[in-house]
Amino acid sequence: MGSKILGLSGSYGSTSKNSLLVSLALKEAEKLGAEVIFWDIAEKPLPLVGEDGCWQNETVKEFQALASSCDGFLLASPEYHGTMSGVMKNTLDWLYMDHVGGKVFGLMSTLGGIANSNTLNHLRICIRWLHGWVVPEQLAIGNVKEAFTEDGDLSDEKNTERLEKLVASVVKHASLLRDGE
Ligand SMILES: Cc1cc2nc3c(=O)[nH]c(=O)nc-3n(C[C@H](O)[C@H](O)[C@H](O)COP(=O)(O)O)c2cc1C
Repeated sequence: MGSKILGLSGSYGSTSKNSLLVSLALKEAEKLGAEVIFWDIAEKPLPLVGEDGCWQNETVKEFQALASSCDGFLLASPEYHGTMSGVMKNTLDWLYMDHVGGKVFGLMSTLGGIANSNTLNHLRICIRWLHGWVVPEQLAIGNVKEAFTEDGDLSDEKNTERLEKLVASVVKHASLLRDGE
């Protein structure tokens, strides 16, 4: 059976570069035989953890059930003030070891300025607390305004190659960890 991969973006909206990046990664995962799903945070917003009524929220329950049914995760977050966005952190705060423990994660981030690994490293720490396995391949895209073509592809071939390697690793390890083969 192919792997089931869930894509999560750390920013809202159809023009978000992170949503675009997750879509590109999911398309690549689909080519490799995975079943893919994108959780559109604009369509199905998750409440802030701790706000009134959040523990009974039906969208949260749906999100957690979906995560439980998936074998791997592809995440992209913008870097905000040197770390992941609040949207991404709140999304991850709705997940626990019961939903994602022992499963594979692939990480991407975009920056307005020069590429660095801050957000990727912070995501890695956070996912360690969820007992997820983060693959070593990763992608940070700097100067994000110039990083995509008008058609929504990555303009630098090196980024495309990194994306392909990252996704291939997530798809491979998702089934390895699930089935042991
Ligand atoms: C509140 C805020 C903080 C930001 N902080 C940084 C930063 O620390 N470093 C950086 O390179 N870009 C920073 N940016 C630019 C974002 O990283 C950039 O707009 C984002 O990667 C674009 O992705 P999106 O289209 O998915 O929102 C910041 C943007 C906002 C709105």
